[in-house]
Amino acid sequence: MDLFEYQARDMFAAHGVPVLDAVVATTPEEARAGAEAIGGGTVVVKAQVKTGGRGKAGGVKLAHSPEEAAAKAGEILGMDIKGHTVHRVMVAQGAKIAEEYYFSVLLDRANRTYLAMASKEGGMEIEQLAVERPDALAKIPVDAITGIDAAKAAEIVDAAGFADDVKAAVADVIVKLWGVFQAEDATLVEVNPLVKTEDGAIIALDGKVTLDGNAGFRHPDHAALEDVAAADPLEQAAKEKGLNYVKLDGEVGIIGNGAGLVMSTLDVVAYAGEEFGGVKPANFLDIGGGASAEVMANGLEIILGDVQVKSVFVNVFGGITACDAVANGILQAFKILEENGTPVTKPLVVRLDGNNAELGQEILDDFAKTLPAGAITREDTMDGAARAAAELAAGGQGQGA
Ligand SMILES: Nc1ncnc2c1ncn2[C@@H]1O[C@H](COP(=O)(O)OP(=O)(O)OP(=O)(O)O)[C@@H](O)[C@H]1O
Ligand SMILES: [Mg+2]
Repeated sequence: MDLFEYQARDMFAAHGVPVLDAVVATTPEEARAGAEAIGGGTVVVKAQVKTGGRGKAGGVKLAHSPEEAAAKAGEILGMDIKGHTVHRVMVAQGAKIAEEYYFSVLLDRANRTYLAMASKEGGMEIEQLAVERPDALAKIPVDAITGIDAAKAAEIVDAAGFADDVKAAVADVIVKLWGVFQAEDATLVEVNPLVKTEDGAIIALDGKVTLDGNAGFRHPDHAALEDVAAADPLEQAAKEKGLNYVKLDGEVGIIGNGAGLVMSTLDVVAYAGEEFGGVKPANFLDIGGGASAEVMANGLEIILGDVQVKSVFVNVFGGITACDAVANGILQAFKILEENGTPVTKPLVVRLDGNNAELGQEILDDFAKTLPAGAITREDTMDGAARAAAELAAGGQGQGA
C-alpha cells in the first residue's frame, strides 16, 4: 500500500525523522486556517496524490499568507495530476532551502536484499539523474539483519559524497529513516528532497512510503491508512470477507482454486472470448485450497454483485479438497445465497477435475437437475468450459432464477 505524503510525514515524525509542521486541508478555507495555525508565514500548498511529479504538474505552490494559501489550495484542489484527482492538499511550513538531497531505501527483489540510494543532488528529477549521471547516485546494498546502523549510514553518506559539515546530520536522519522502514514493514521509504535549510538543519520535505501488505497483521494501525474512498467497492467488499479478489474489466466471472490455475483461467477465457466479440474475464478470484461452502458462497456473492458479469466460470482442480466437497460447497453456496436474498441469477459453468472428480460431477449434475435449465453447465475440460462461459456472456441471457 502506498501512502499519501501527509501520512508518510506523520509516520516520519513518529519515528523522530525531522519534518516541518503541516496540516491537511480539503477546502480553501481549511487551507487558510491551516496556514494560520502553522504561524501565518510562508507555507507550501501541496497536492496529495499517489503519483510523482506533483511539482512539475503545478501541484506544489508557495503561499506567503493564509489568504494566498487559500487561493493556491483553490487552484490545486480538483486538479488532475496524471489521472489522479486532487481531493486534499497538505499545507506545510515553508523551508528556507540551502541544498536538496535524495535518499531512499527499498526492497531490492532482484538481489534479494535491501538497497539504499543517496545523492547530494536531490530535487525533482532523480530518475533523470540516475540515467544521465549514475555516478551521482550512490547505491549501497543493506543487509536485512544488520540494517542501517551508524556505521552503515556513514558508508552511505561517504559513497554519495556529502560535504563534511552535513555528513553526521544526514547519517543521523538516514538511521531514523531506516527505523521507519524496518519498524513499519515498508518496502520503500523515499525522501526527495531531503534538504539542508539555511540554518543547517536536515529535514525531510517530501516522503514516499510503501507498506508491505503481507505484514499488515503486525500493524493493526495500518488499516486506517487505507484510502477507502479510492478503493473499488467490490474489491473492498472482497477484502472484508478475506477473499483474494481483483476486479477486472470483463464479463465472465472467475472462481478457481490456486493462483496459478486462476491466472491461466483468465488467459483461457480471454482467448475463448475472442471468438465471441472480445468477451473478457471479469475478475481474478482464488478461493484457495480447502475452500468451504461459505468461501464459495462469499466468492459467488462478490462476483454476482459485479453488474458487468454475465456468466461465471468455476474452475476447480480437486486436490486436498476433493471434488465432491467442492460440489457440495457450490450446492450449499446456492442455498446460502438464496437465504441471504441474493440468489444466483447468472449462469454458471463448472469444470471439476482431480481428486474424486466423478463423484463431484455426479453431485453437481443431480443438483443442476433441480434448477432451471442452463443455470449450471458442467464441462469436462477447461477449454470447453471457457468457451461455454464466454458464449453465455456474449449472449447476455441472464439465467432467470
Ligand atoms: N515545505 C517546503 N518549503 C519550501 N519548499 C518546498 C517545500 N516542500 C517542497 N518544496 C519544494 O518543492 C519541490 C517539490 O516538492 P516535492 O518534492 O514535495 O514534490 P515533487 O517532487 O514534485 O513531487 P513528487 O515527489 O511526488 O514527484 C521540492 O523539491 C522543494 O524545492
Ligand atoms: Mg519530491
